[in-house]
Parts: sequence; C-alpha cells; structure tokens
Amino acid sequence: MAFAIGPYSISSPVILAPMAGITDIPFRRLCHQHGAGLVVSEMVTSDVRLWNTNKSRNRLVHDAEVSPRSVQIAGGDAQMMAQAARQNIALGAQIIDINMGCPAKKVCNKAAGSALLKDEVLVREILEAVVNSVDAPVTLKIRTGWSEDQKNGLRIAKMAEDIGIQALAVHGRTRACKFQGNAEYDTIAEIKQALSIPVFANGDINDVHKAKFVKDYTGADGIMIGRAAQGRPWIFREVAHFLEHNEELAAPTLDEVKQLVLSHVAALHQFYGDYLGVRIARKHVGWYLRTLSDQSTFRAVFNRIDNTIEQLDKLEHFFVGQ
Ligand SMILES: Cc1cc2nc3c(=O)[nH]c(=O)nc-3n(C[C@H](O)[C@H](O)[C@H](O)COP(=O)(O)O)c2cc1C
Repeated sequence: MAFAIGPYSISSPVILAPMAGITDIPFRRLCHQHGAGLVVSEMVTSDVRLWNTNKSRNRLVHDAEVSPRSVQIAGGDAQMMAQAARQNIALGAQIIDINMGCPAKKVCNKAAGSALLKDEVLVREILEAVVNSVDAPVTLKIRTGWSEDQKNGLRIAKMAEDIGIQALAVHGRTRACKFQGNAEYDTIAEIKQALSIPVFANGDINDVHKAKFVKDYTGADGIMIGRAAQGRPWIFREVAHFLEHNEELAAPTLDEVKQLVLSHVAALHQFYGDYLGVRIARKHVGWYLRTLSDQSTFRAVFNRIDNTIEQLDKLEHFFVGQ
C-alpha cells in the first residue's frame, strides 16, 4: 500500500491529476488499468441546478467508475459546495475532492478554484462546510499560494489538515504563475514536512526520472501526473515501477499501443455517442500520434473523418503501416 485516504488503501503512489475535458471515465479507466493508484474525476460545478446539462451529466459518477470513486467539485460558496458534496455522495462518490488548484469558472458570480487561495477566511468556511456535510473523506487540491508575494500554501495546508481534510495535492506553482515558468518543489517539501496526512506532489512531472527526483526531494506520499499522461497512459506503470525498483520498464510495443488506442477510441464512441465521440477521439489520437512517426499527414486525414467505423478503420491501417 502506498497510502490511505480514509478507509481506502491506494496501492500505487502514482495518481492521475484531474483535468477538465480530459479525465473522463474512458480515460480514467485506462489510466487505472495502466497503473494509476487513484484517478479523480473532472470537476463538476457546485451549482447543482446545472447538473442537468450534458456536460455535467457526463462528469458525474457512473456505474463503470474505478474505485475509490473520487469526484472533484469547484465553487466559491460554502453552502453550495456542501450541497454538491452531499449530492455527489448520494450519486455514488466515495471521496470528495475540492478544487482550489486550477482556474475554474466563476460559479454564481463567486470566485472558484485557485482564485479562492486569496481569501483564507472563505477557504476555511468552504473546507469546514464540506467536511462537515459528508460522512466520507474530503481531499483538497491547491497551488503553492496566491502569488509569489503571498505564498500562503503552507498556511492553507495546515488549516486544511486541522479542519479534517484527509489528503492534499499541491501543484508547484502559485495561482499568479498560471502555467508559466517551471513548477517548484521547495514549498511542496515544506508542506509535506508540516503535515501528517498524505501529500501529493504535482507539476511538470513528465518522466520516470523527474518523478523520482520530485518524490525524493519533497518526501511526498504520491506523485500526481496530468499533462504527461495525455497520449501516454502507460506512464503510471512506468513511474510506479521506477519508483519501486529503480529500473526502467521497457516501452510498450507498437502492437500494445495499437490495441490501447483502438480500445480507447471505441470507449469514447460508446460513452459520448457517435457525434461527440468522434470529435473527442481526435484530441486523444493527436496526443498518441505525438509519440509515433509520420503523424502530421495522418492526423490531418484523421481529423476529417466524421464517423466512428471509419475512425477505427483508418487507425488500424495507420498502425499496419508503422
Ligand atoms: C486541460 C487541463 C485541465 C485541467 N483541469 C483541472 C481541473 O478540472 N481541476 C483541477 O484541480 N486541476 C485541473 N488542471 C490542473 C492539473 O490537475 C494539474 O494540476 C496541472 O496540469 C499540473 O500538472 P502537470 O504538469 O502534471 O500537468 C487542469 C490542467 C489542464 C492542462
């Protein structure tokens, strides 16, 4: 076991970062099959009135979900967040994750996501309301602070632990950094030192060596990977193996990649239906192709296909020609 979140034992220390528009069920399942210890759903708005839209419905918990089922919520009003947490639990979520780590759209005209880090009183209110509203572990995702001058990540982390947050993910940038510059890991190390709940280090971890460096440097219990998993879901088993054995796993064979891409695309068609499935598949296939040769010509052809059978057919052919 790598760590536990409440009653849930997580076997691998390498986890998937929540990414809106990307970490849908097909992708979460794939990452889990390929070694991710924990996968977190894309954020859903805390405004439950909006849950009837297709976008929100797709993001809520489904039967095919990987266990433990962790759902991320975003919003800036404590009572709405508490209600969203309760309703997600009623729908089958087992862990509630709060997004204070990523820019999120305003919900009901109130700041949400990492913008909350500026207002520690509001952060406390939201954390207390959510923790007290559900009988399930609540986790939190933050950045290292609001800005370089106000790097209040450590204070927020301690507050979160006191309130009863059961695990904390920290992206090594401030809110003001957006995605610019490099992630820094000193603040994450400081936070890990000060807390006893599991801490996950996140930001710019894109291969096994970087993962080992960050884990050793910060002492974090887990490594959270986002963008580097796009088109490369097997990164989780590679990192887990390297962390445990200090040796690199062989890269997946072309045949394995082919099977994986075909089954991923078929799962997207099935989950989203033909129209949306074809369009969402283009994005993922583009990422897979980055690691293979002759991608630009094929990508242009692939992006013009607008039916599911032809997409799968053309992909089969592409791999035969590799
Ligand atoms: C397209 C995209 C969508 C994201 N959506 C979310 C989100 O919904 N919730 C969240 O907490 N973080 C979100 N993030 C931030 C990631 O979880 C992660 O913190 C960030 O990408 C840094 O990790 P990485 O360098 O491994 O990608 C998103 C990032 C990207 C690139």
